[in-house]
Amino acid sequence: MKAPLAVIGGTGMNQWPGLTTVAHHRLETPWGLPSAPLQEGQIGGHPVVFLARHGEGHRLPPHAINYRANIAALAQFGVRGVVAIAAVGGIARWFPPGALALPADLIDYTWGRAHSYADGSDGASLDHVEFTAPYDAALRQSLRDSARHSGVALAGEGVLGVTQGPRLETAAEIRRMARDGCDMVGMTGMPEAALARERGLPYACLAVSVNWGAGVMGEGDIHAEIAQSIETGMAQVRRLLGDLLQRQP
Ligand code: HPA
Repeated sequence: MKAPLAVIGGTGMNQWPGLTTVAHHRLETPWGLPSAPLQEGQIGGHPVVFLARHGEGHRLPPHAINYRANIAALAQFGVRGVVAIAAVGGIARWFPPGALALPADLIDYTWGRAHSYADGSDGASLDHVEFTAPYDAALRQSLRDSARHSGVALAGEGVLGVTQGPRLETAAEIRRMARDGCDMVGMTGMPEAALARERGLPYACLAVSVNWGAGVMGEGDIHAEIAQSIETGMAQVRRLLGDLLQRQP
């Protein structure tokens, strides 16, 4: 049997209702412990490995996640690709709360995170990984196909801006991000995507808009927006993923 796909679940998908557990794997990596044990399981009889990005009980804020250990543990397990689920704020008008998107590119605004395996510590030669297209084309196509087959609408593709958090942005910051070309904003997309590239793991992001970015629609109550849209958005994500896993070789 081929290696399974991994799904990294974030806010709104810290667990996966419907996932039958086969085993929990407490993997240790040279970069420490991942956010949680890897949950090897099945959806509709199809294998998958699930990792809760924010840890059990959703206790890790975006800047305190050990992204290096998370990606290293998935690589160590031998997954063949990673689908990262991200709850984000919509900046582009086409991406309202409750909608899903398949980002095509990203801009990294994070700082101070352990963002590379190439930190000079292991004597390995320095490698500037290619990152022109941060997301894997084949995995993205599979996600598009599964969206179509499962009747889940993708509102668009676009650019994900990744901020440091854990605070939300100011209205001016969101206006700047819009000028930069960002269509959505999240806090966990980096360095996760770059580390997956360094480890040679195909990686794609499925984004769920759970609120409008700060100031996009005036001064709404962002937390109320999130509470309203996150469950419906994640239900769509689970449906799409069910189809994706069913079609795996
Ligand atoms: N900003 C940053 N990250 C987010 C947001 C937001 O508005 N919503 C969900 N994750």
